[in-house]
Amino acid sequence: MSLKEKIIPSKLPEHIAVIMDGNGRWAKQHGEDRIFGHENGVKSVRDTVEAAAEIGIKYLTLYAFSTENWNRPQEEVVALMQLLVYTINAETATLNKNGIRLQAIGDLKSLPSDCYNELQEAIANTKDNSRMTLVLALSYSARWEIINAVKEIAQKIENKTLSAADINEDAISSHLCTAGIPDPELMIRTSGEHRISNFLLWQLAYSELYFTDKLWPDFRKEDLYEAILDYQNRERRFGKTSEQLV
Ligand code: IPE
Ligand code: IPE
Ligand code: MG
Repeated sequence: MSLKEKIIPSKLPEHIAVIMDGNGRWAKQHGEDRIFGHENGVKSVRDTVEAAAEIGIKYLTLYAFSTENWNRPQEEVVALMQLLVYTINAETATLNKNGIRLQAIGDLKSLPSDCYNELQEAIANTKDNSRMTLVLALSYSARWEIINAVKEIAQKIENKTLSAADINEDAISSHLCTAGIPDPELMIRTSGEHRISNFLLWQLAYSELYFTDKLWPDFRKEDLYEAILDYQNRERRFGKTSEQLV
């Protein structure tokens, strides 16, 4: 039985979030510069998106560039933005062919204008697809997102369109970039790092975390299946006892 066949369709996560990490180390291992790692990471993105859509995942969020990543050497930032523009442009037809809708979360206005425009165009061109939603986290950080949400809520209270007593989990969720998207049941991070790095802090509250030593450019469909199988073997208790779950 293949890994894919072992996956139980009724126990699929609806939303998987991925911290795609390890491109730089992969490049170093191959005696190349960091950009080479990012370029090879695109193949893993393609494989992961295709595998997720094929098995019936509804939302896939990929952490592609964090707010903190702006602090990398300028030439790496420029190369990453160029790669992004090129990839989004080259992949839009495939997204449409596979029924995938593109969305993006983060401080998108901070992206270079060609990148921002390409992104908005791809989002508009894929908006009617419904098989799976691919969410790119770009210039994203969870603290930035939470600060924004708090500001918006405060503004509504100031305008008297919201009262403090009405602030609850739903009110906060609906002011985040991920409004309308279910929280990820599964979060995968590659490259052996065991941290969240400012990713979806609110939304990951009850996610199952899966860490693999694989570097992102080596991540393939089988690795996604393995992560899903691991997830399907976990007991999600949400604070209850095992006995209460049956
Ligand atoms: C992830 O790989 C890609 C981005 C953060 C843009 P890294 O570039 O962080 O690779 P490592 O962690 O340095 O190996
Ligand atoms: C997290 O990876 C951000 C992305 C994958 C886009 P980093 O490589 O930037 O995270 P740290 O610095 O190791 O925590
Ligand atoms: Mg890294």
